[in-house]
Amino acid sequence: MCGIVGYIGNKNGVPVVLEGLSRLEYRGYDSAGISYKEDHELNVLKKEGKLENLEAIVNEKKVTSSSVIGHTRWATHGEVNDTNAHPHGNDDFSVVHNGIIENAFELKKELQAEGEVFHSQTDSEVFLVLLTKNFKSGLSVKDAVLKTFKALEGNSSFVVLPKAENNIYAIKRSAPLVCGKSDDDQELLASSDPYALIGFVDNIFFPGEETLCFLDSSNNRIDFFDLDGNPSENYKSDKSRKDLKVETKEGFDHFMLKEIYEQPKLINEIAKIYKSEYSDQISIKAQDLDTINIIGCGTAWHAGLCLRNIYETELQTKVNVELASEFRYREPFVSSKDLGLFISQSGETADTIACTELCEKLNLKLASILNVGGSTLNRLCHENFMIHAGQEIGVASTKAFTMQVIVGHFLMRLLQGKHPTADFEKELEVLKNRIQNILDDVSSIKKIANEVHTCKGYIFTGRNKYFPIALEGALKLKEIAYVHAEGYAAGELKHGPIALIDEEMVSICLVGPELFEKTLSNIEEIKARKGKILIVGPKDNSKLEEISDWYIPLDFSDLNYFSPIYVNVVMQLLSYYIAREKGTDIDKPRNLAKSVTVE
Ligand code: G6P
Repeated sequence: MCGIVGYIGNKNGVPVVLEGLSRLEYRGYDSAGISYKEDHELNVLKKEGKLENLEAIVNEKKVTSSSVIGHTRWATHGEVNDTNAHPHGNDDFSVVHNGIIENAFELKKELQAEGEVFHSQTDSEVFLVLLTKNFKSGLSVKDAVLKTFKALEGNSSFVVLPKAENNIYAIKRSAPLVCGKSDDDQELLASSDPYALIGFVDNIFFPGEETLCFLDSSNNRIDFFDLDGNPSENYKSDKSRKDLKVETKEGFDHFMLKEIYEQPKLINEIAKIYKSEYSDQISIKAQDLDTINIIGCGTAWHAGLCLRNIYETELQTKVNVELASEFRYREPFVSSKDLGLFISQSGETADTIACTELCEKLNLKLASILNVGGSTLNRLCHENFMIHAGQEIGVASTKAFTMQVIVGHFLMRLLQGKHPTADFEKELEVLKNRIQNILDDVSSIKKIANEVHTCKGYIFTGRNKYFPIALEGALKLKEIAYVHAEGYAAGELKHGPIALIDEEMVSICLVGPELFEKTLSNIEEIKARKGKILIVGPKDNSKLEEISDWYIPLDFSDLNYFSPIYVNVVMQLLSYYIAREKGTDIDKPRNLAKSVTVE
């Protein structure tokens, strides 16, 4: 969602901020802007649409400045236009904001009654107007920022560029924020994502909740304060981020395709990492748990569904798989003997974080299956099981899903007090090779994509362990191809969705060796209603060949735990090539954000 980059230092910060914003494009946005100081005055340039629209006006004006803040906006309050884009500014301050001010409406009414004037429809402008009012009442910039922040409800991060000082202030509550210093301490940066700072800073700091970061350019230092203005130790520094690299497409047409192709390598590496990093001891034991509550959103929720059956069978523990946006507003019946297991690629998804905080209050044990180190989720959980998928740029998650499911299996063994990888190494080798075989020849998937891409809609079905893959396959397709796609348990078809079946509807039927006959009879029901049928199922099966319009044969031999991942790679490629036929913006699909930091 919204991306923030701020720079203050001894060089021209404009290219740094623009480069940072371009790295954050992957998160999803609809407008972009910068504010910079020139001759001690604040200026704002902002533009609806792609970053290149902003870059064009910045280049035309030949802007250079050593004090710059920038923003990519994903609209929440107010439509997408130049006025609502950030930064919001006046003579005294420019501000950028990520998150939602929940009491913005009330505050705005009060401020308007006092005669304050607003120019945009955003909640963010309330921060600017209140900050300016507090500053004009005689407070220092620092105290005005703190007082204003304390008056706001909701989860947000802000970066403030004041006219009165040559410094930047950044502050956060349950929204992503990092800052960093260059090697020589002469350049200080802030951002909503460490990825924007790669190569520009040597040391990255992760401020804790309700911490103010003071980027002090006169003294070349960053100081941290609590909300009362006292020096604070509530931050972590992380030199290891220096090794992060800026991702390129490496010859692939899209990041999504590159990430699909990375999977065999990542599968090869993950077992080695867990083999050497973990023995068989973690602090949480399955036998001590009442229930495991697996919580996530989107693709991460689907990964949770993949883990449910196997956890229940092998751990003999009750398992709930919950959508974070629903769990947080129920009054969940949980106990302190439960585990909250949060699955998230980014570690910043607002609903998932809210559930983690809720479970913390309810005294649950907290663990995560997570990709991004240093994220909010990383800091909240007692144990973090990293998926080591590397930066995922494509908005539609692919490699992260695969690694979440695999690491979920390692965690299952750790919860049993066993070695995490011993049982899985052979099968992972098979999985890796089978996926590589699919990737080596995608011609049949491409051909099918070409033949089905104009169809009216797509119903994905699967039973048991392939049901979550049906959901994930449908999600992937709608995310990037903008077509109607639904995932269903194959046995549920006749309870409603079968009404949709006709000659223009494609059913994508996922068939494993398990429950083969049952799944086949569901396919017969589709056939009887003249639906088009694409089967992804066991190879060399004449019945499947005969009943289907298209058949993608797979070799399921020696696969057990991980066969859903194998099938899912076909789903990833199918969505990708259908989206290509449709000509959509695959890496940055419309309306979507990579990291959903508002609820
Ligand atoms: C967004 C992304 C999805 C992702 C979901 C959860 O909707 O577009 O790809 O699955 O958020 O994100 P997380 O970072 O928590 O896994």
